[in-house]
Amino acid sequence: PYPLYAELRRTPVARQEDGSYVVSTYRELTDLLHDPHLSSDVRNLSRPMPQGQGDATPAFINMDPPEHDRLRRMAMRHFGPPHTPGLVTGVEPALTSAVGSLIDDFAGKEQIDIVDDFAYPFPVSVICHLLGVPREDEPRFRVWVNDLINSIDYDPKTDPKEKLEKGVQARKDLRQYLGGLLEQRHDRPGDDLLSRMANDDGPDGRMADDDIVSTANLLLIAGHETTVNLITNGMLTLLRHPDVLQRLRDEPGLVVPLVEELLRYEPPVHIIPWRAAYSDITVADTVIPKGSQIMLMLASGSRDQNRFHDPDRFDPDRRDNQHLGFGSGIHLCFGGPLARREAQIALGELVRRLDRPRLVADPPPYRRSPVLRGPIHLHVEQAA
Ligand code: HEM
Repeated sequence: PYPLYAELRRTPVARQEDGSYVVSTYRELTDLLHDPHLSSDVRNLSRPMPQGQGDATPAFINMDPPEHDRLRRMAMRHFGPPHTPGLVTGVEPALTSAVGSLIDDFAGKEQIDIVDDFAYPFPVSVICHLLGVPREDEPRFRVWVNDLINSIDYDPKTDPKEKLEKGVQARKDLRQYLGGLLEQRHDRPGDDLLSRMANDDGPDGRMADDDIVSTANLLLIAGHETTVNLITNGMLTLLRHPDVLQRLRDEPGLVVPLVEELLRYEPPVHIIPWRAAYSDITVADTVIPKGSQIMLMLASGSRDQNRFHDPDRFDPDRRDNQHLGFGSGIHLCFGGPLARREAQIALGELVRRLDRPRLVADPPPYRRSPVLRGPIHLHVEQAA
């Protein structure tokens, strides 16, 4: 039930000793996410960012309007519903077949790791497919994305400097690789996102190569680990609620509201840590001074008892489920429709095809990250 969040919500906007602010209630979070004075550009912070966070060419997630809106629109044009009939519409068969073949590989295994054997390989292969990355290069992608994500985790057992260096190197390698691929797509375009972004003269003009590489990079970083965690948190939650698991077997359509409830109840993104006050902002009678760092506790907002009835209950029949799992406002997750479909297909098929699955350890080991929440392994046994 996340007692820490319940405690935090007693002070909706709390000033920390270091001068940053923590916001934890639904109403204040949504007000702020829609406030034009809340900046995603960390250069507006009066204190410098911790090492390693602000070094890449920014992508639109770290920009403010009007540049954010222009780049988001340019990428969104090709990406898909509900905004345009783009690439994501055509990806459905690829999702089903990727899920099917990963589950085929479970055959004969008594114990499966839902993370390593299923959730981890799946989203990265989908994004590679959308971008037009050749299949044989996918394993390199996985290593880069992993090094990048690990570099922001907190793990006392590993040397933080070494992890940070690995992350910076992975970022460089990934940009270099994507730059090379983009050059090829200028010469020989295919029907993939890189080719479309590279060769389109839309209403906003043509995208610069540097912006295309940053956008591709962003899609990989924003769309991989998050989706892994949604699938893994989903399987864990189902195994802890056998009645719901059984209902899903009987009524496959339940998977749609179920994934929505998961995004509220066990969201992959708990915190947006780096928003800046562009000028003084007043929220819940508190003035947040210009330049302050603001941490948005999204997962706490989605458990706020003043917004959700019985918030600590996992209830796929919940109505009016406007959770904060994908954020809100102008930076609302760009990949939401894709992530939802991935999770729906993944969980639907896992439940349909696993024979009497059982958790090996509860709780499973968790990733040590303050921002992303999900198990690093989820071992499940199935009937022989
Ligand atoms: C933004 C969550 C999957 C691409 C966001 C934000 C959240 C989020 C909370 C808001 C960040 C902010 O306000 O600063 C998630 C979750 C996912 C998921 C929980 C999976 C379950 C994806 C996927 C993609 C993607 C699959 C793309 C392939 C993006 C992008 C943004 C974003 C590009 C930035 C949007 C903007 O700045 O306008 N996501 N995401 N996400 N997400 Fe996702």
